[in-house]
Amino acid sequence: MTQVIKTPYYLIDKSKLLRNMEKIAYVREHSGAKALLALKCFATWSVFDLMSQYMDGTTSSSLNEVKLGKLKFGGETHAYSVAYADDEIAEVLAHSDKIIFNSVGQLERFADASASHVRGLRLNPGVSSSEFLIADPSRPFSRLGEWDADNVATVIDRISGFMIHNNCENSDFALFDQMLGEIEDKFGSLLEHPQISWVSLGGGIHFTGDDYPLDQFCDRLKAFSERYGVQVFLEPGEASITMSTSLEVTVLDTLYNGKQLAIVDSSIEAHMLDLLIYRESAKMAPNEGELEYMVCGKSCLAGDIFGEFRFERELKVGDRLSFIDAAGYTMVKKNWFNGVKMPAIAVRELDGSVTLVKEFTFDDFVSSLS
Ligand SMILES: Cc1ncc(COP(=O)(O)O)c(C=O)c1O
Repeated sequence: MTQVIKTPYYLIDKSKLLRNMEKIAYVREHSGAKALLALKCFATWSVFDLMSQYMDGTTSSSLNEVKLGKLKFGGETHAYSVAYADDEIAEVLAHSDKIIFNSVGQLERFADASASHVRGLRLNPGVSSSEFLIADPSRPFSRLGEWDADNVATVIDRISGFMIHNNCENSDFALFDQMLGEIEDKFGSLLEHPQISWVSLGGGIHFTGDDYPLDQFCDRLKAFSERYGVQVFLEPGEASITMSTSLEVTVLDTLYNGKQLAIVDSSIEAHMLDLLIYRESAKMAPNEGELEYMVCGKSCLAGDIFGEFRFERELKVGDRLSFIDAAGYTMVKKNWFNGVKMPAIAVRELDGSVTLVKEFTFDDFVSSLS
């Protein structure tokens, strides 16, 4: 029997997750690329049992993530971080199959410690598809990877691969193709070096979205792999979990202040932080009807607004609302701002039953501080 779960909670629907997983499996099979889940986007390990059947492993941004990937997901575990500290490198190496350094400086600093490990370096091609400067890895003066091919050539004997992450929310295959061409022009001499046997093309490619030309994508990846004789990796975060999850909330109050307002038992700052960072609206479906409400969070932040949505009928206290597409960069960023109740996490299993996998308590709030 499906249990009644108190809002707020994130609801991960495994059958929707499966649709993405099947597309990822298709790409692996038809392109030869390997797919690693980017834990920075989604690290809810309760569903790793399903995901690990369709993906090769994980990639990480920190010691904590690399350990989580190794221990909870398994398969291939890539370690990457913008910068490692001296006291974490041994544990990072112990929990990873490959380590990717962000700079020549870090590669040199940890050259001895990592001498027997598979090592790579992040390259920055200087082009990206980001619409937001704050998220643009190729922004002016970016610290994310090495730009100068001649400088990289001086350390190529220490590495066997590269990571390049320059796609951001990119659902346009032609743009992906064009930027990969620019990468080949800029870094071709490095890519074809006999020392290099693998290249990770990062995340940010929305190939699991509707109407993405999967076969063209596979052909392009395969051609790249064959041209340089490299194993290609992809690091899908958002593409792995897109449209799989909702944030379930309840209306706590309604008021009229020139617009109809509804306040819900959640907060964008605490539970969907990217809406605030990127000044975007949450998504709701259906979003039609005569009445329009501005749906707001319950934190003290004046701009704690999920968005304006249309409804068939008047909203009342106790009504349940559901924000869709709420898996990526949400659960990994949730926080205790205003002490707002942390959403529980529930999973809709493939048979339709719902399992509550995590609840947060007052003790969790207390133990998050001191
Ligand atoms: C190096 C790297 N790999 C993978 C990803 C995942 O990107 P996305 O969630 O857009 O697929 C990111 C996102 O910032 C990243 O920086």
